[in-house]
Amino acid sequence: MKNTVQVFAPASVANLSCGFDVLGLCLEGVGDTMSFQRTSDSGIKIFNKNNSSLPTDPKQNVAGVAAQALLDAHPIAGGVQIEIEKGILPGSGIGSSAASAVGAVVGINQLLEHPLPKQDLLPFALAGEAMASKDAHADNIAPALLGGIILVRSVYPMDLVKLPIPKDLFAVVLHPQIELKTAEARALLGNQVLLKSAIQQWANVGALVHALHTDDDSLMARSLQDVIAEPLRKKLIPEFDRIQKIALQEGALGCGISGAGPSIFSLVKGAEKSHNIAHALSYFCNQKGIEHQLYTSPINRNGVEIISAK
Ligand code: HSE
Repeated sequence: MKNTVQVFAPASVANLSCGFDVLGLCLEGVGDTMSFQRTSDSGIKIFNKNNSSLPTDPKQNVAGVAAQALLDAHPIAGGVQIEIEKGILPGSGIGSSAASAVGAVVGINQLLEHPLPKQDLLPFALAGEAMASKDAHADNIAPALLGGIILVRSVYPMDLVKLPIPKDLFAVVLHPQIELKTAEARALLGNQVLLKSAIQQWANVGALVHALHTDDDSLMARSLQDVIAEPLRKKLIPEFDRIQKIALQEGALGCGISGAGPSIFSLVKGAEKSHNIAHALSYFCNQKGIEHQLYTSPINRNGVEIISAK
């Protein structure tokens, strides 16, 4: 049984254009660092190290909700203090709430007398994610927890498929510095889709899965298309069409909205091409006066990481 734990919870890209709510991948190097300390007082206390806009009430904080869900099922004596250092801005579209939820359950799990296997933590992380986005989707928490590229076949019951990662695949993520709330970006979509759009979308998902298995760049490029969420959401993102065009012209296999936005991801083969695309996008944003951050990352195969547990 451990008393102090530190974890690094990574950012993730959900949807991958065609796979709304069912596809996601894990990023490397960008994420939240969370520290956990067992306390003699009962209950969860939250401290935000560098983001004072996040709630400290555990019932309102994604990490608090996820942690409580796990502790309700697996109680411990005393309580826990959680300190969160956000490396992912909330409302950025790269799985900020998922990182907090996943970090929380992985950290708390280490404090249990009998820690659970990693994949058994997903339903507890989902409780936190559901509170944040007002809907239970696992396309950020699954890759953040397990790493790699994940297909969420079902949430209840949780049924995940880990997909192969083609050689030399990189994600370039452009984060324009505006905040979009996932719940609002979801509300924009309504409840119905046209049958012809659904047909196109599920054809793309099937083809993308095949392309990942066969490392077929051309099929990947043809499948990374979103005819359902992107047309409705892109108006919330300044210069989305121009940015997408630049990324594709520079050789990205695909480019689309990362999760609910405003971040925009490109999937790219090769480190050099990734850097060229990042450079071109940054140049464009600077010309347009769009404040932004850029991340270039290989696909993170491992997901959340336990930095220390004592
Ligand atoms: N699939 C979710 C959405 C991801 O697009 O709303 C949110 O990060």
